[in-house]
Amino acid sequence: MTDESWDTIADWYAALLRAGSALNDFNRDVLLALLPDELSGLRVLDLGCGEGIITRALAARGAAATGIDPSPRLIEHARAAGTPGPGTVVYAVDDGCVLGTVADGSVDRMTAGLSLNHVPDLDAALAAVRRVLVPRGTLAFSIPHPCFEAPHASWTTATDGTARRVVGDYLAEGFRRSDNPRAVRRAGNQHRTLATYLAALLRHGFTLEAVTEPTPTAHVAARRPKRAGLPPFLVVRVRSA
Ligand SMILES: C[S@@+](CC[C@H](N)C(=O)[O-])C[C@H]1O[C@@H](n2cnc3c(N)ncnc32)[C@H](O)[C@@H]1O
Repeated sequence: MTDESWDTIADWYAALLRAGSALNDFNRDVLLALLPDELSGLRVLDLGCGEGIITRALAARGAAATGIDPSPRLIEHARAAGTPGPGTVVYAVDDGCVLGTVADGSVDRMTAGLSLNHVPDLDAALAAVRRVLVPRGTLAFSIPHPCFEAPHASWTTATDGTARRVVGDYLAEGFRRSDNPRAVRRAGNQHRTLATYLAALLRHGFTLEAVTEPTPTAHVAARRPKRAGLPPFLVVRVRSA
């Protein structure tokens, strides 16, 4: 068992994305599909920004974007990548469960790409999101689809020779790390069921506005043929009260 963290795998993760990761590019695109094309004049906070793939895309749409992440090394990578414009980008080391660098009611829109499945306390994160959003502000987030990325999910071969996903221990919530030294999950993952996510959003007074289970593009399917028939992500937009 490794004891890797997001900070220890930061250089590897940044290099992976900079080389062009079909799945991470796809995730950015399906998440951004839930935001307006034009974000000029809007303050947008990207929770769990990593090396900044989504934060830069927000700035490219004109946003005054802020990316926060608890990994100092990932924030270094994000800063080094610069700002594409026409919007602006600033980064801060911060915990999504606290958002201590972000003032109350100072954010118009939020994104969280593949990061809420890493926060240890979902209630604390959603309370922080509520606190920093303006009234009727939105949060758009993606998570690895919990139905297909559950603990011990695996592959089997059907009688016709095609690959089939084995669900695994869907109800076994909690933190787990992969032993695979090449897997992103060697830094760990917080598995939660769909009901846990939806119930938490309701508890914090969010209104559901959009949900997608995006079909892999031909580009993604070519790289992950076994996954062509499964949505890799669950993508959700909610609005605060
Ligand atoms: C799969 S990466 C996604 C990064 C980026 N959003 C992207 O799309 O590439 C997960 C990110 O969640 C971050 N993370 C882990 N714990 C967190 C926390 N408590 N609050 C906010 N982000 C966290 C990690 O540091 C990492 O950057």
